[in-house]
Amino acid sequence: MALTDKVAIITGAAHGIGRATALRLAQEGATVVVADIQDELGADVVAEIEGAGGQAHYIHTDVSIHADIRAMIESTEERYGRLDILVNNAYATKRGSVVDLSEEDWDHYMAIMVKAIFLAGKYAIPVMKERGGAIVNMGSVHSFAAWPNNAVYETAKAAVINLTRQMAIDGGPLGIRVNAVCPGWILSHPERITEERLRWARHIYPLGRPGQPEEIAKAINFLVSDEASFITGHALVVDGGLSIQLQDSVNLAPPNFEW
Ligand SMILES: NC(=O)c1ccc[n+]([C@@H]2O[C@H](COP(=O)([O-])OP(=O)(O)OC[C@H]3O[C@@H](n4cnc5c(N)ncnc54)[C@H](O)[C@@H]3O)[C@@H](O)[C@H]2O)c1
Repeated sequence: MALTDKVAIITGAAHGIGRATALRLAQEGATVVVADIQDELGADVVAEIEGAGGQAHYIHTDVSIHADIRAMIESTEERYGRLDILVNNAYATKRGSVVDLSEEDWDHYMAIMVKAIFLAGKYAIPVMKERGGAIVNMGSVHSFAAWPNNAVYETAKAAVINLTRQMAIDGGPLGIRVNAVCPGWILSHPERITEERLRWARHIYPLGRPGQPEEIAKAINFLVSDEASFITGHALVVDGGLSIQLQDSVNLAPPNFEW
């Protein structure tokens, strides 16, 4: 129970990697604030944590709204008197090239994937500085390479890496470590798995498969724990080896392959 007495906020925790991270950190003893816009699924995650003997509560938080982020941090401080861990995981995006994407879409998805991390840091760091803390921001293998028709996601995930470094510099003197985790394809949406995608993954992932949300939760758990006490400003790639042959993976995608 390495995280006993710690309080953790996880955005986008109603589903996928965020959900798996909420369950994992709670298993390690943390009290978990599940922040999301999917209220029913968020309540399910809380019930699952409590059913296993852990502590959690849900707070409706749309990370594209400044006031929601501020309320997420302030209500956590009011309720628990502390904040030790923040995982900036929520995301939504839209496919499209620079030519196709509207300005409104660009602003909206950049707000969810980048500005939200800036704002969460702005309010969380002053609370965390009492005792020190750890922040993890979600990058991607897309932080390091651009794919067709994905302008806002590729830009946002690259920005997450340098924002993480900036936050690490800001937080370091206050005892706050800030790192990024950069996953490859993770099976957050089983309904989207097709035989063609799995065949492709077998071919281009050195480990021969996509990852599970729990495998990203393990990496996040490591980075927020004391085991990572001298690691900050780092982008940890957790991708089954995909990125060591990413260029090939693009070349190897079948013609008209829709990712
Ligand atoms: N799954 C992958 O293959 C993969 C790969 C690389 C990186 N990632 C990153 O991991 C993170 C989680 O991805 P996932 O696959 O678990 O996604 P997911 O779709 O399973 O979950 C995303 C969660 O974010 C929530 N969300 C969406 N908009 C929100 C908003 N405005 N405010 C608050 N919450 C909001 C959703 O409701 C959902 O619960 C993302 O940052 C994503 O970019 C995922």
